[in-house]
Amino acid sequence: MTDSIRIPLIAGNWKMHLNLAQSVELAKAIRDAAGDSPSEIAICVPFTALTVVAEVLKGSRVRLGAQDIFWESQGAFTGEISASQLADSGASYVIIGHSERRRLFGDTDEAVNKKLRAALGAKLNPIVCVGETLDERQSNQTFRVLETQMAGGLKGFAPADLASAVVAYEPVWAIGTGVTATPEQAQEAHRFLRRQAAKLYGEGFAAGLRIIYGGSVTADSVDGLMSQPDLDGALVGGASLKAPSFNRIVHFQVPSKAV
Ligand code: PGA
Repeated sequence: MTDSIRIPLIAGNWKMHLNLAQSVELAKAIRDAAGDSPSEIAICVPFTALTVVAEVLKGSRVRLGAQDIFWESQGAFTGEISASQLADSGASYVIIGHSERRRLFGDTDEAVNKKLRAALGAKLNPIVCVGETLDERQSNQTFRVLETQMAGGLKGFAPADLASAVVAYEPVWAIGTGVTATPEQAQEAHRFLRRQAAKLYGEGFAAGLRIIYGGSVTADSVDGLMSQPDLDGALVGGASLKAPSFNRIVHFQVPSKAV
């Protein structure tokens, strides 16, 4: 059973989808259905939608997030967005090191580490993504990859500095493919990640660290995933773009984890 200190987090990742009118409509539907879900809820929207969605979510229990950040605080960095700009626009969460950023835009573990430092400095809650590719899994490299990404991304902090950090295990082969990791595969990776967290920052830190799963999570798969002891929530792409599926995920049903 999940340690009671870890409140589940269900975060939507809208990626590069929806215009402003659609964003407002979806955010309202999520806000209005949040109700008494035992989870913390966040939606990570495109930069251009941050301020309008912030208005919709004002006073509600749904938190706003962004999908990336740049590590410098200001300056001549055309096209980039700083941590304080994100906080200023109403965001309290930010995704860092998503596999699409790593694969398509060259984010390295070093970049992840710098972005993490910037996010924490602005009091944003970072969601740091790690995960292996299909090739890596098939060649038994999963644990090596996870160990490297954890050590590289999270290095150099004091445990207390990372209190708000969330790790997302997102196997690349499961993202946007419709192939969800089985609850057992996810649990195995999450348990390993928690052990890495303990190696880096001690057992107490590891016990409190939220590790959420991402990769084709749906309304149908969420209950099984969330029944695993080391799964503390979900990072949801495709299924976060429709209110009924996301709202069902938010209200996942696992007797031992429901309030
Ligand atoms: P997916 O995306 O749920 O569409 O697989 C998850 C993610 O990329 O965070």
